Amino acid sequence: MRRLGLIGFSGSGKSSIASIAAKSGFKAVDSDVLIEKKIPNAAEMLENGREEDFRTLETSVISGILKSDFDFAAFGGGVHFAHPAWREIYQSGLKLVYLRSSFENLIGRFEERPLCKKLGREGYEKLFSARLPLYEKAAAFVVDTDGRGLNEIWSEIEEIWNSLFL
Ligand code: S3P
Repeated sequence: MRRLGLIGFSGSGKSSIASIAAKSGFKAVDSDVLIEKKIPNAAEMLENGREEDFRTLETSVISGILKSDFDFAAFGGGVHFAHPAWREIYQSGLKLVYLRSSFENLIGRFEERPLCKKLGREGYEKLFSARLPLYEKAAAFVVDTDGRGLNEIWSEIEEIWNSLFL
């Protein structure tokens, strides 16, 4: 199947890359946008100690995405090897591209995210470190983002697309 998923920590550019993909004529979806359509302010669950409920909702949205017709899907930062949706993603055959960034590179982009508000800066950095190996395990491809603009990152992702599907 000709399609790719985008994973990575908050602020790594998944949604922006999905928008560029859409502008380039690909069918692109964003799991966070679909979650918010289903339940407005769903992300507030994460601030209110209801992460499990959020992950259940996220899993059902991802399940719907996997059954739909798309080229690129951007997933929320919680999607990795240990996410409840991982097995279904793997079994669907969807290959994931991990937008890898250092924590320093993301500063200024994640502060308003609910999990950052809940955990505080130190806790959020610990979460970042804990997730790094989980993104790597889940990903078929890793694209580094530090010091690179969105167009350069998109070019590398297009190359991956072309190498797999053209
Ligand atoms: C989350 C990241 C967010 C969103 C939700 C949970 C996380 O997505 O899915 O707030 O667990 O890191 P972005 O990666 O688009 O910020």
